[in-house]
Amino acid sequence: MSDALIVAIDGPSGVGKTTASRLVARELNIPHIDTGAMYRAIGVAALREGISVHDAAALEELTGRTRIEFLPGERPRVILNGEDITGMIRTPEISMAASHVSAVPAVRRALVRLQQAMGRAGGGVLEGRDIGTKVFPETPHKFFLTATPKVRADRRYRELLAKGQNIPFETVLAEASQRDEQDSSRADSPLTYDETYTVIDTSELSITEVVQWIVDEVRSGR
Ligand code: DC
Repeated sequence: MSDALIVAIDGPSGVGKTTASRLVARELNIPHIDTGAMYRAIGVAALREGISVHDAAALEELTGRTRIEFLPGERPRVILNGEDITGMIRTPEISMAASHVSAVPAVRRALVRLQQAMGRAGGGVLEGRDIGTKVFPETPHKFFLTATPKVRADRRYRELLAKGQNIPFETVLAEASQRDEQDSSRADSPLTYDETYTVIDTSELSITEVVQWIVDEVRSGR
């Protein structure tokens, strides 16, 4: 067992996990590990090869011969078989593909192993869906971020707009709801939390307040 500092930040899409995780990691001086980016990379690999995101056997075979690296830092990079694909993983199409491939147990096993190796090596703020339940259940620092569906879809909508993707709000809301439903209802490691988590509703909080809350709890050892 390693004594590296592990902070688990789980929750659905659009709750501000990525921004909060990045700032908490900076404050605590440990790497920020975005585990969703790894599932997105498998989604990219599947779409490129024309593999159905519902074909578990083909996805297992694909994962076995796919090399994914996640390089933390001020501008984290996702590398797929040596190629930097960071710029292409945040589209609605890849979001949905990632949600589907993440339901496949063999895909999860491979990526969880990678996440555990990274966390044990240097600690980290790991953001995802199952960090506190499956990846690092032993860490005392577990946070589950929530927000109302409307606030979450609104944040996603603005994020996409800022990147030049003008997708109707109603579409963003519908896709986010579908993805959260898929992530919460899958058999392997569904999005959930238990009494060992601190639940933070971010609907009415600023990002600074969320970060301060998490950092204070981690530092005080709760
Ligand atoms: O956090 P994100 O939106 O980038 O994640 C993309 C998808 O990956 C999400 O729909 C569910 C899946 N995921 C997961 O199953 N487990 C994780 N630890 C992180 C993400």
